[in-house]
Amino acid sequence: MFWQSKLTVPLFRPQVHFVFQSMNVRFTVMLALILSLTFAMAIPVSALAQKAPDGKSGATAHEDLFRNKQFPSAFECKVCHPVQFRQWSVSHHAYGNLSPFFTSVENAILSKTNGTSADTCSRCHAPLSAVLKTMQISNVKRQQFAQAGEDFLGPVVEGITCVVCHRFDKRYGKRSARSLITQGDIFAPIFGPTNNDIQAETEKDSRLNLVTERGKKGRAIHKVVEPYPFLRASRFCGNCHSSRLPTGVHNEETFDEYRTSQSAKDGVTCQDCHMGKVPGENKGFDFAPAAVIGKTETKPRRLSNHYFAGPDFSVLHPGIFPHNPDAVQLASYAQWLEFDHKKGWGTDEFEDNVADDHKFPKHWEDQDLRYEAREILEANFELMDWAKDQRKTLMLAGYKVDDVVMNKPSMSDGLNFKIKLRNAVLGHNAPSGFIHERMIFFQVTVKDGQGNTVFKSGDRDPNGDLRERYSRYVRNGEMKYDKQLFNLMSHFMARTFWGGERTQLRAVPFSAAVRPFIRPPTNPTAIHMRPESARSKKNSIEPGGHRWAEYHVDPSLLKAGETYTVHMKLIAQQMPAYFIHVSSGPGFDYGFSLRELAKRVVDLSINLWETTETVTIAN
Ligand code: HEC
Ligand code: HEC
Ligand code: HEC
Ligand code: HEC
Ligand code: HEC
Repeated sequence: MFWQSKLTVPLFRPQVHFVFQSMNVRFTVMLALILSLTFAMAIPVSALAQKAPDGKSGATAHEDLFRNKQFPSAFECKVCHPVQFRQWSVSHHAYGNLSPFFTSVENAILSKTNGTSADTCSRCHAPLSAVLKTMQISNVKRQQFAQAGEDFLGPVVEGITCVVCHRFDKRYGKRSARSLITQGDIFAPIFGPTNNDIQAETEKDSRLNLVTERGKKGRAIHKVVEPYPFLRASRFCGNCHSSRLPTGVHNEETFDEYRTSQSAKDGVTCQDCHMGKVPGENKGFDFAPAAVIGKTETKPRRLSNHYFAGPDFSVLHPGIFPHNPDAVQLASYAQWLEFDHKKGWGTDEFEDNVADDHKFPKHWEDQDLRYEAREILEANFELMDWAKDQRKTLMLAGYKVDDVVMNKPSMSDGLNFKIKLRNAVLGHNAPSGFIHERMIFFQVTVKDGQGNTVFKSGDRDPNGDLRERYSRYVRNGEMKYDKQLFNLMSHFMARTFWGGERTQLRAVPFSAAVRPFIRPPTNPTAIHMRPESARSKKNSIEPGGHRWAEYHVDPSLLKAGETYTVHMKLIAQQMPAYFIHVSSGPGFDYGFSLRELAKRVVDLSINLWETTETVTIAN
């Protein structure tokens, strides 16, 4: 099988990147040419490390690194904001540029569009990368250089890091283009939801020795907190959580859905539901100190949760994600990938029994180091468990099964039943966001008295896919298409060369005909992102709305007088296994096999609800 034949091929992200010293938003054919040339030239990473944005040579650039950072890393903010850091570090904002799915789809699109899609994807997922005009460096490589102090792009791996949200000084609308992020090292002003009052008061405490200027001895702090109340507006999130492309495709639509929702009418914001005490519900905020300096806490105030729970969850090695400065100090990403935590390295159980001549990778030969690594991983596991709880709470707040109706079964009508699924969120559709890969489906199994399965829907093929149109088993005719499948996933539709339409997994310019078709098209994809004819076939439930999942078991499958059990389950999964397959391209930075990655995604799916009903067919 095609899929299986590919399983063992390790796929790495190419070490190819773009360096644009001055790129304006007028993407011309000329630019397309430069782009594809740059892409083809594959400048080695070391060359990049020697070039500062102002064009200074290697040595000077290196010194400037520490004196003149454009964008501080979240690790620097952690010193005084450990709570926000901890929550953010395991969030999907922090995962935005590490995500193997993101990087591989981005790479695949770049190669299909000959580079003309440029920084389209990074603008939201890795905004520092878009501002610095550098993309497509392997994250594993990038981090190695950052660790060696040689890469001024260190914080780029942090994706949507602290300064991305706290260095905005303008009210941007939807992000169809790049947004400016104010630059400067740790001393530069920070933009916060309130004002400088607490900071000014804290600075007065001379024991804390806070300094707001470079060159003075003490704890470096942002010069001033600039009031930026826009941070508390839903529109702030809409900057990335909505993008309408000139082609008309709504790639992300959460904010658009929100605008006409009940929540918007009631004045309930994204922040109320996503940064408050209870994930997914407007139940108020914590009230606690926002900064801890040494052991001194600042005055309590409204405090927001920076985890931003969602359906996604990390599939990466726990030494790489969540972001943890201890982990970065101990080993590079590449070295962490060699640390076999599943075998128990660094636990007494493993270490007491390991053979003396056991071959470890060079970095991990020292047993003490393995113990140290294990300690870091334990801390990361604890954080991930917390995050999983937050995620489940959020999802349960969104999806409610209100009713199950079992019709009286008979040998003439068969067995008919239906399940009512409601979107309890009054602020946007469910699912929302990247609806073209979010699965919310019912798994239904009907068994007879002997435990034989007579009917099923929402079950998986051996790859982990549902029996739907992209299942390789269904396509090969080895399994039956699941006609009654209830799945809220949406699809991209793209017009084919001959005028028809079909679903497309990744809407990029493609030739549907054998006739030669020259790419890229006349319209730059950097602006359009999708082929002009593409649209979204939306299948999610509107705020407060509901859908019925209806099932029919044919009389030919049933026996008179028999008792049947009907087991029903609601499952949420971040993406289908086949999505991973089509996205593979160049880009799984971390040496994953497709099989392993698909397995991790399936293992991370969430059971949101289940029940069992029993019915007997009259004689
Ligand atoms: C996706 C955007 C986003 C990112 C990333 C982000 N923040 Fe925030 N932050 C906000 C918003 C929005 C608020 C205001 C929330 C409110 O009061 O409704 C906020 C509030 C704060 C506050 C005020 C106290 C509080 O917790 O409410 C601090 C301090 C803070 N952020 C620090 C950080 C640090 C440090 C990081 C990185 C580790 C970070 N933020 C990353 C959006 C972000
Ligand atoms: C040396 C300590 C220190 C460091 C380092 C530090 N902060 Fe702060 N920060 C503070 C203090 C003190 C306050 C005031 C607390 C408050 O407003 O409740 C504050 C407040 C904030 C606020 C809230 C402002 C508001 O309007 O409510 C934000 C946002 C913030 N910091 C972001 C950051 C980010 C991002 C970084 C890293 C680039 C950072 N801070 C680094 C000490 C620090
Ligand atoms: C700079 C762009 C940007 C801003 C601003 C932003 N987000 Fe995000 N957000 C993203 C991206 C990109 C992702 C997905 C990253 C990934 O997993 O690859 C994301 C993920 C999320 C998720 C997790 C969804 C999941 O997949 O699990 C939630 C919830 C969320 N954001 C809410 C918010 C809210 C609420 C705000 C406003 C306070 C906000 N975001 C501001 C870009 C942004
Ligand atoms: C009334 C509370 C509420 C409001 C308001 C709200 N959300 Fe949500 N949000 C939820 C709940 C609950 C979920 C989980 C169920 C779901 O996936 O829809 C969720 C899910 C999400 C997700 C995950 C997407 C997915 O796959 O379904 C994102 C991203 C998100 N919200 C962003 C936002 C943004 C941005 C706003 C503001 C424009 C916002 N939310 C407003 C409650 C809310
Ligand atoms: C306008 C901002 C924006 C742009 C541009 C954008 N995204 Fe996203 N993307 C988001 C947000 C917001 C989410 C999270 C939505 C959710 O959780 O449902 C997301 C989620 C994703 C996810 C799922 C999360 C993950 O990492 O597995 C993938 C994959 C992804 N985007 C790929 C891309 C690719 C590839 C491009 C470029 C073709 C792109 N995105 C362009 C905002 C954007």
